[in-house]
Amino acid sequence: MNVRGKPMRTIWLEPDGGAVGIIDQTRLPHDFVAVQLGTLAEAAHAIRAMLVRGAPLIGATAAYGMALAMRQDASDRALDASCATLLATRPTAVNLRWAIEEMRALLRPLAPGERAAAAYRRAGEIADEDVAINRAIGRHGLGLIEAAWERAGKHRPVELLTHCNAGWLATVDWGTALAPVYAAHERGIPLHVWVDETRPRNQGASLTAWELGQHGVAHTVIVDNAGGHLMQHGRVDLCITGTDRTTASGDVANKIGTYLKALAAHDNGVPFYVALPSPTMDWSIEDGVRDIPIEERDATEVTEIAGRLSDGSTARVRLVPEGSPAANYAFDVTPARLVTGLITERGVCPASRAGLLSLFPERRQLMAGE
Ligand code: MRU
Repeated sequence: MNVRGKPMRTIWLEPDGGAVGIIDQTRLPHDFVAVQLGTLAEAAHAIRAMLVRGAPLIGATAAYGMALAMRQDASDRALDASCATLLATRPTAVNLRWAIEEMRALLRPLAPGERAAAAYRRAGEIADEDVAINRAIGRHGLGLIEAAWERAGKHRPVELLTHCNAGWLATVDWGTALAPVYAAHERGIPLHVWVDETRPRNQGASLTAWELGQHGVAHTVIVDNAGGHLMQHGRVDLCITGTDRTTASGDVANKIGTYLKALAAHDNGVPFYVALPSPTMDWSIEDGVRDIPIEERDATEVTEIAGRLSDGSTARVRLVPEGSPAANYAFDVTPARLVTGLITERGVCPASRAGLLSLFPERRQLMAGE
C-alpha cells in the first residue's frame, strides 16, 4: 500500500541480503521510522515490543528472525533455541507458531551449512504468500462491499466499521480486514470507514487511521464505545475485523473489544465479518473461549497514554490515579455464533466447522471427531 504516494511493504530484505527492514510501528503515526533487524534478539524484541504487530506480520517477522538466527549459528542447538525464543514473544497470534513450525520443518533435515540460505528463501516465500493470500481476501471481501452498496441503492458511501488494525500494517501488504476496503476503493466504490481507536495501544487511532489516510480512503476515528450507538442509528452497513487466531469451529480471537462490537452488531442486525488468512487458523482447538491463550500485557499501557505535544515532541502521560491497579487483557474471543461469515483466501464461509471444511477439505482428517 502507499506511503507518501509510493507503494511499500511492512518487511523487506535489505540490499546487503542479510539484514531485515521493518517499519517501527510504535513511532506511528507521528514519525515514520524504518529499522534494521540484524540478529535473532532484535527480531524477538521487535515482536515483543510491538515494533511489528498483527498476526500475519508477526509470523513473517518470526520467519525472518529464524533466518537471522541461522546466519549467526546454524547448529541444531541454535535452531531449537531460536524457535523457543521466538515462540515466547507473544502468545495469542497463532501465525507465530505456524511460521516457526514451517521453518523448523524445513531446516531440521538440512545440514547446518545449508540452513541460512534455505531460511532466507522460505522467509521470503512466506512474505510473498502473505501478500497473495491477502490480495485474494480482498477480492472475496469486495463482493460483500459491492452487495452493501447495492443495498444502499448506490446513493451514498458504504459505511464500514473496523476494530484495531488489520490493515496492511498488520500484514506484509494489503491487510486482512482492510484488503476488501482497498479492493473496493480501487474499484471506485464510495466507502467510509469508522475506525475504533482501540485502547489501550490505540492501533485504530494511530495505525488504521494513518494507513487509510496515506491511501486516500475516507475514515473517521471513534472512541471504542461509539460503535453500538452508530449501529442503532443505521450508520454501519457492515463490520469487518481481523483475527489473531480462529478455531476449527469458527471462534475468533481478536483485539480486546471485538466481542462487544460483535454483540452490538448482532443486536442491530449488522453483518459482522472476520477476515483471515489460513495461517491464522488453529485447527487443533474448537472452543476459543476455553482454549485460546489471552495475552496480558503491562498495566502501564492502560494507566498511561502516549501522544504528540503542541511543540511537536512526543510524551507519555499518566491517566489513572497513582496506586490504582490496572488490568490489561490484550485479546478477547468472539463466539462463532456472532460471526456472520469468515473471509478467507479461498472464499467466504459460515463461521462453523462445516463452513471451514467446505473451503479447506484437506483439513478434514486432522479435525477431532472426523
Ligand atoms: O496486538 P496486535 O496489534 O498485534 O493485535 C492485532 C489485532 O488484534 C488486530 O485486530 C488484527 O485483526 C489481527 S492481525 C490481522
